[in-house]
Amino acid sequence: MFEDLTAAPADPILGLADLFNADERSNKINLGIGVYKDETAKTPILSCVKKAESFLLETEQSKNYLGIDGLSLFASATQELLFGLDSSIITEQRAKTAQAPGGTGALRIAADFLARRTKVRRIWVSNPTWPNHKSVFQAAGLEVREYSYYNAQNHNLDFDAMISSLSQVSAGEAVVLHGCCHNPTGIDPTPEQWKIISDLSLKNGWLPIFDLAYQGFGNGLEEDVQGLRTFAESHPELLIASSYSKNFGLYNERVGAFTLLAANHDIAERAASQVKAIIRANYSSPPAHGAMIVSHILNDLDLREEWIDELTHMRQRIHRMRQLFVKTLQEKGAQQDFSFITQQNGMFSFSGLTEAQVLALRNDFGIYIVNSGRINVAGITLDNMSVLCESIIKVL
Ligand code: LMR
Repeated sequence: MFEDLTAAPADPILGLADLFNADERSNKINLGIGVYKDETAKTPILSCVKKAESFLLETEQSKNYLGIDGLSLFASATQELLFGLDSSIITEQRAKTAQAPGGTGALRIAADFLARRTKVRRIWVSNPTWPNHKSVFQAAGLEVREYSYYNAQNHNLDFDAMISSLSQVSAGEAVVLHGCCHNPTGIDPTPEQWKIISDLSLKNGWLPIFDLAYQGFGNGLEEDVQGLRTFAESHPELLIASSYSKNFGLYNERVGAFTLLAANHDIAERAASQVKAIIRANYSSPPAHGAMIVSHILNDLDLREEWIDELTHMRQRIHRMRQLFVKTLQEKGAQQDFSFITQQNGMFSFSGLTEAQVLALRNDFGIYIVNSGRINVAGITLDNMSVLCESIIKVL
């Protein structure tokens, strides 16, 4: 039965991590997968996470199943981060959140929910976008279309082209928006632009789906959800797939959340019951450990403060590396102007390097970046900065 199968292509991001791990060069540098590294190029466990884990070790009494939609304290803390503490969405109970196995799991819940329980058949993603978006939505049976986003020549958001292509989205179709730190470009709409997109969405009747994997990595926890909140203020319905992989450093614990916003509490309840049926038929109920950590930290004043400090430290380190990267490229004699990189947000820099240059960096220097030219700035350290910039200049 299996003999006729051909090999599937390697995943553009996780496949690259495999290649990196197999590379025996001791001076190799991994700037591929979006994982935070500290000053010593290690992916740390946050101190607040360690404390929450000690607490759980002492107090956890049972490993009984969670409910289909996970921990309720996790859900309420998630909604506070998304909509704000005093949001009327929360007091009116218009939102329902289900714990999910990572942001990808949340996206797949959204995809299955749309494909099986709504009339949505077509979904729009930005060009470019995180490559797995297409795979997840297509796997659920949705047709995926692209809207314009990036101006490769000017290295910025092509807002006119974005609005023009989004104007073709029909009522009842879904549109995926990156809440902050657009992956892969690092370029986000301004607050004014968010408002224009939101008005267009409302006027034309799209279902917005926010992918929020980097809250806190752009400009701050509150600042990074301004676009989402602009939409949530005016839209009766939207979906959110959020992730705690990056902002809690809980990559392998797979902690994410699927949140559904409906016009009123009653509709939200009914829709959430359908979401639960989808989850039950998929993986039954979510894993507990990571969500318990997040929930404990977000519901404990001291640990929450500590988390915000640690998140701020991560954001600031990436920001410093971004500035220094551009400066070092200049100092080492790059002929091209890379200053556009300082305008980008979050973990990634869309460098403008071509696929041939990316391959040369990998083959000749053991430097791994995604074929699209996306560099994980969080993987740059003071120690690898010089050799990275010198190598880039050699392949330019
Ligand atoms: C990335 O874009 O590198 C991360 O979101 C990791 C992944 O799953 O692709």
